Amino acid sequence: MDVNVVLQRYPFDVKLEDGSEFTFRPLAKDDKIMLARFFQTISEEDRFYLKENVTAPEVIQGWIDNMDYDRAVPIIAIAGGQIVADATLHRSRAPARRHVGELRVVVHPDYRRVGLGARLIQELIDLGRALELETLFFELVDRREMGAIHAAATAGFEEVAVLRNRVKDVYGSLQDVVVMERGLESDGAYGHF
Ligand SMILES: CC(C)(COP(=O)(O)OP(=O)(O)OC[C@H]1O[C@@H](n2cnc3c(N)ncnc32)[C@H](O)[C@@H]1OP(=O)(O)O)[C@@H](O)C(=O)NCCC(=O)NCCS
Repeated sequence: MDVNVVLQRYPFDVKLEDGSEFTFRPLAKDDKIMLARFFQTISEEDRFYLKENVTAPEVIQGWIDNMDYDRAVPIIAIAGGQIVADATLHRSRAPARRHVGELRVVVHPDYRRVGLGARLIQELIDLGRALELETLFFELVDRREMGAIHAAATAGFEEVAVLRNRVKDVYGSLQDVVVMERGLESDGAYGHF
């Protein structure tokens, strides 16, 4: 399915088991300031392990200027008029890699452990199915991104590789990166799209 067709389902409201409510929708060009403010709420240590320097104004400006849903689909969760989570499905344009997607998810510290990350990962799984991807993966820093490793495992991702000493932590010590993967083809229908 074409990404622009898939994205027609947004925005919509989501209610979690604890009663908290969020609006999910794709990131838009007008969200620049709100997105920058969101990343300021993430602890320096959590930000340290993300794949991009999300507090550099030019990084967010670059995302907004070069927004291309064929390449990256960023879904944000809004509560109280603010972004409280960002979950993105990244794809390669190369035909040989087009069937694979990488997930990245960040939740505001005040909104963690209530199921929002899990709900967003499920959203990206559904998106991946609708876009006819076959495999999704996370690359997570072992021992430093344990919340994400748990959340990915809960969503059916399995460890498929360990990249030894791939990153340095905030203390300068080498840490492994764990690749966690989940196939989509065996689930049949395209989720709730
Ligand atoms: C990883 C992250 C997105 C999880 O978001 P969240 O909203 O707190 O996750 P949920 O509440 O939906 O939890 C999903 C599962 O993971 C588990 N989990 C979440 N954080 C955990 C933690 N710190 N330790 C252990 N388990 C954790 C939950 O218990 C739940 O499993 P369960 O259903 O079996 O109980 C959030 O911690 C975060 O933004 N971390 C910093 C950014 C990051 O590391 N991103 C990954 C890089 S792509």
